[in-house]
Amino acid sequence: MSNWSAKNPYMTKITECYVLNGEGSRKETRHVVFDLGDSGLDYKVGDALGVLAENPANTVDLLIDTAGWDQDHMVTTHNGERTIWEALKKDFEIHRVNKKFVKSLTEKVSSNGMRITVKMIDRYRESVSGQGAGWMGGDSEMGTELLPSIPGDDPVGRVEHLTTDADAMEDYIWSRDYIDVLRDFEVSYTPEEFIEVIDKLKPRLYSIASSHDAHPGFVELTVGIVRYSHHGRDRGGLCTIYMADEVEVNKTDVGVFMSPTKSFVLPEDKSIDIIMVGPGTGIAPFRAFMEQRVHDGGSGKNWLFFGDQSSKTEFYYKDEIESWLDEGHMYRFTTAWSRDQEEKIYVQHRLKEHGAEVWEWFERGAYFYICGDKQYMAKDVHRALIEIAIEHGGMSEEDATHFIEKTMMKEQKRYLRDVY
Ligand SMILES: Cc1cc2nc3c(=O)[nH]c(=O)nc-3n(C[C@H](O)[C@H](O)[C@H](O)COP(=O)(O)OP(=O)(O)OC[C@H]3O[C@@H](n4cnc5c(N)ncnc54)[C@H](O)[C@@H]3O)c2cc1C
Ligand SMILES: NC(=O)c1ccc[n+]([C@@H]2O[C@H](COP(=O)([O-])OP(=O)(O)OC[C@H]3O[C@@H](n4cnc5c(N)ncnc54)[C@H](OP(=O)(O)O)[C@@H]3O)[C@@H](O)[C@H]2O)c1
Repeated sequence: MSNWSAKNPYMTKITECYVLNGEGSRKETRHVVFDLGDSGLDYKVGDALGVLAENPANTVDLLIDTAGWDQDHMVTTHNGERTIWEALKKDFEIHRVNKKFVKSLTEKVSSNGMRITVKMIDRYRESVSGQGAGWMGGDSEMGTELLPSIPGDDPVGRVEHLTTDADAMEDYIWSRDYIDVLRDFEVSYTPEEFIEVIDKLKPRLYSIASSHDAHPGFVELTVGIVRYSHHGRDRGGLCTIYMADEVEVNKTDVGVFMSPTKSFVLPEDKSIDIIMVGPGTGIAPFRAFMEQRVHDGGSGKNWLFFGDQSSKTEFYYKDEIESWLDEGHMYRFTTAWSRDQEEKIYVQHRLKEHGAEVWEWFERGAYFYICGDKQYMAKDVHRALIEIAIEHGGMSEEDATHFIEKTMMKEQKRYLRDVY
């Protein structure tokens, strides 16, 4: 047994990190392989891997430059004493501004208020009269009370608006990091004040896409890279950008740990049939399940529902799936390519088309697994299951809901979910 954890991660290397999408795809989904070396780490299919990322060096440099700090200034963080540069690289999330920081601006804009007010007054004078700072007798501070308010431009008013209107706050922080906000409000923080209000860096979890029996000494993931651009700078998700852009294959040390599951497991009885629904990166644990079922050699049938935007660009693990089908390991493979035709086709539509057979499988005791998007897909698939129970099981709405949510999910524990 090993004692690696989020606080004490095993430092290893990524040995492969390649894009699974075909040319012309709107997405970037990668297959990422980690070496488990001499860690003693083991895992079962269904488990997740925890990955500890670092912030990009150029973002750390730009933040330190914008804030006007000395990069060698020593600070104490939850991980000990280190330079502010190292702290911002490894200990904190700096890629998205948090609400606590925006709230902390209240004190900053009022204590810096005079400097900003004078600037704003001068700007206002220019805008209304074209006369610049000479307007109203030259002394900007004297004129403060006489000026009308400047809607949307007054930092004190703006911070008050952000801290009292939840939607405005969400909207503001969605597209910004600390560099944007420091520039926006022209405020200054000491390194100590700054690290007091920002968030500690959290590990990210990924459903494991390999069976350890099929890939001894390695663990593999299917990762959707989060990229976007705001306020003139390209940016994205902390951990996915780290794995895709920052880590050098076979070179950079990356911290990992296992996050075992108790519930998202294969049936112990290998003769039980399973239905797996995993569109997009949701396919990850089902590649692992298939590898394990092939390795274990049971008689249970495997039916995979997979989909993404297009068969031309998002057919992840196509060769492996085709060989499982050819060799009879996969009984059925049902696809839902959402953008290969005019109308959207999703996995829940395919489930309903095959409703009679899905119901037969349920009656024979099949397990049902779902992985991927929690917000929309998992809810729609859940609804489709209830509709299948109504249509093919002849149940009332109430009985069908009870069967799916209580009997299958809670009592029999054969409707299992890994959604995020
Ligand atoms: C149990 C579990 C298993 C998982 N398995 C997988 C898996 O197999 N594969 C996988 O890819 N992921 C998986 N995830 C998700 C994964 O943990 C991360 O959440 C994901 O990779 C994003 O991490 P990140 O650090 O790159 O992004 P973060 O820095 O955490 O940022 C992600 C956030 O960025 C925001 N965002 C997105 N687009 C924009 C935009 N245009 N503008 C502004 N903000 C935006 C969204 O709020 C989003 O939540 C899993 C999660 C869990 C809990
Ligand atoms: N919690 C997090 O931090 C985090 C981070 C990253 C990703 N995620 C989630 O993980 C999901 C996986 O991302 P992904 O890129 O692999 O795949 P995805 O965005 O889920 O897309 C996979 C397929 O599902 C389709 N789809 C869209 N809405 C659907 C619905 N309501 N029901 C069924 N299918 C639907 C998509 O079609 P169209 O695109 O054509 O509509 C596409 O064909 C994301 O959607 C996201 O919600 C969460």
